[in-house]
Formats: sequence, C-alpha cells, structure tokens
Amino acid sequence: MSVNKELVATIESIFGERFGKPDTIVRSPGRINLIGEHTDYNMGFVLPASIDKAIYLAVQKRNDRQIQLVAADLDESHESSLDALVKSGTHWPDYILGVIDVLQKNGFPVQGFNAVIGGDVPLGAGLSSSAAVECATVYAMNTLFGLGIDRKTMVQFAQKAENDFVGLQCGIMDMFASMFGEAEKVIRLDCRSLEYAYMPFPSEKVDILLLDTGVKHSLASSEYNLRRQECERGVAVIAQKYPSVKSLRDATIGMVEECLADGDAVVYKRCRYVTEEIRRLQNGCEDLAKHDFAAFGQKMFTTHRGLSELYEVSCPEADALVTMVGDHPDVLGARMMGGGFGGCTINMVKKGKAEKLAEALAPRYFSQFDKELKSYLVAIDKGTSLL
Ligand code: GLA
Repeated sequence: MSVNKELVATIESIFGERFGKPDTIVRSPGRINLIGEHTDYNMGFVLPASIDKAIYLAVQKRNDRQIQLVAADLDESHESSLDALVKSGTHWPDYILGVIDVLQKNGFPVQGFNAVIGGDVPLGAGLSSSAAVECATVYAMNTLFGLGIDRKTMVQFAQKAENDFVGLQCGIMDMFASMFGEAEKVIRLDCRSLEYAYMPFPSEKVDILLLDTGVKHSLASSEYNLRRQECERGVAVIAQKYPSVKSLRDATIGMVEECLADGDAVVYKRCRYVTEEIRRLQNGCEDLAKHDFAAFGQKMFTTHRGLSELYEVSCPEADALVTMVGDHPDVLGARMMGGGFGGCTINMVKKGKAEKLAEALAPRYFSQFDKELKSYLVAIDKGTSLL
C-alpha cells in the first residue's frame, strides 16, 4: 500500500499541536472507473478501482459531545456538537458531519472526537475525494467506538451521508470503490445486488493516465440530480408497458426504442445511453478477461461519445482531450470519467508511454484553452484501511 509519509507526518504534527496523539489514522483512497458511467444509480454495473492517492484522517476520542475538525491542507477548523449537526457552510466538514449524522440516526453510539484530515487526492478532479472522506470517517468511527459495522453497511452509510446531508443524489460506486479496493484489481460491481468480483488489471502492460481538464463546473450537482430524474421518467414510461422494469438495468435497448423513441427526446437520449453502457460494460469485461485491451479501449471511446452526445455530461475540454488522443498509437482508450462537467479523462496507455504523451498534450491543451494540463499517472491500490 502506498502511503504519503510526508503528509501523514504533517497531519501527526498538526494533531500533536492541537490535541496530542491520535488514537488511530485511517487511509481511504480516491477512485477511477474504467467503464460503466452513470450506471450505478440505474442499478447497472460499474468497473472502478481505488488508487494510490488517498485521504488520511487522524482521530481521537473526547469525553464530551463536541467534534473538533482541522483540515491540514486548508489550514481551517470547524467545531460542532453531536447534538446539533448542521451543514457547515464551508463544504469539507459536511462529508464528516454527514456520516456522523447517519450513524446517529441509525442508532450507533458515537461520542465526541477530534480529527485532523489531509490528503493527496486532487480536489474537484472527479476522483471522489468526498467519498474518500466519507469512507475514512465511517471507518474511523467504527474503529474508534467499536461499532461493529460491516464494510458493505459502511459503504451504504457513506452514500447516505452524501445523499441526505450533502445533497448529491449519487450512486454507490465511489464509496464502494474506496472501501473495497484491492491493489492491481478492478471491481466489477453489480449496483443492484451489491455482488462484486475482482478482475486483475494488467498493470504490467497498461498505464492509467488521468488528464485533468481543470474545469470545476458549478452545475455538476444540479445537473447530476437532473440526470437521475430523467432516467426515472424513462423507467416510468417503459414500466407502463413492461411492469417488471423497475430501473434501467431491467430495460433492453429494444424497450427504450419501442417506448421512448417517439416521446421526450431528452429522456430517450439519456435512457438509450444508459442501456447501451450497461451492455457495453458486460462486453468490456469479456475483453479484459481475454486481454483484448484494444477492444476494451475502443469501448471507452464509444462510452465517451455517449456521455458527450446522449447523456450530455461532458465539456469542451474533456471532448478535446479525448479527441487529441483518439488516433494516438500509444493510447488504447480514453473517455471522460465520473459525474462529468469537468474533472479528468481516463486514458489507457501502453506501458511506459504515459509521461511522454502527457508532455506532448500539454502545449496543445494550453494553446486551445489557456490552461495548464495537469496529469496523474495512477496505480491501483488498496481500499480503506488503518495505517
Ligand atoms: C459520480 C457519482 C457516482 C456515479 C458517477 C457517474 O462520481 O458520485 O455515484 O454516478 O458520478 O458514473
């Protein structure tokens, strides 16, 4: 497991100054997703993995009902009482407070605590730093107060914190990936049953390069929630004819054509993309199992087109980055990743070629968008654990 020792030392030193010695430190990673985007809340499949960039949360019990939080990177603090949990107005504490709120509402006896948080997951880059914070928190509380919660339930609590306290109607993928990740493996997760299987990732052959658009779209959360509703509207129409269809997971492309093609054009496009993507992931897993990375990569490009043209969650910067690598001989596949409206593109690149590629793209990106192109070569690493 890769640990950012310098960062952990900083967190420990801040902790020392403020509170003394932490009882425990949790590491919870960010995530990538190879394919299966916007399928999780449609009860389909996803193929994520946890990465070697993580959130670190150091915690210590208190004898009262206060929560004292410090963000090491931001040099900010926040204080709250367990008996009056409200949104902080400054964003980062909400991911922690939201988890505490869910734990309390589910009857788990949390007490007061001190915490210092830090991390090297780039913020707002679509690598799910928020899910990592939520997973770190639920794991830390489980350890600190001996709550005896199993991993799947911890994932569900983390998602609930995001849904109910933060207010993003996200699916379960990000938290599941952070909590269940394994080194060198991707997780094929059935988001309906929560059954999962690990598939080996061929890191000896393929590098994963993330290219950061540097775009943080303010509409991301409202548009995301809207996409969910559009999918639900599609399901309601299909269910009139096929009552067994409870989510887009149950619908076929044929049903979408039959029931939605002549209706609301937006709903039709959204549902068409999702049903195609669920199918594409299943075929993509077969490619991976056969080590046919070229075929898998082509599916990533197709996913990108769907996200851009049918689901309409891309942005000009992500479209341009995917186009730039489209016919590059070292790139097997690329697409925008995560919720959309900015963040990173994920690129599967032939081993050892990623750095050169990023170097070559940076000036082109700069001349088109007047923005530095940040890039991250990521490795697939272990999920949430104690340090
Ligand atoms: C965000 C959400 C996830 C998932 C992706 C899109 O990351 O948090 O639940 O829906 O977008 O696949």
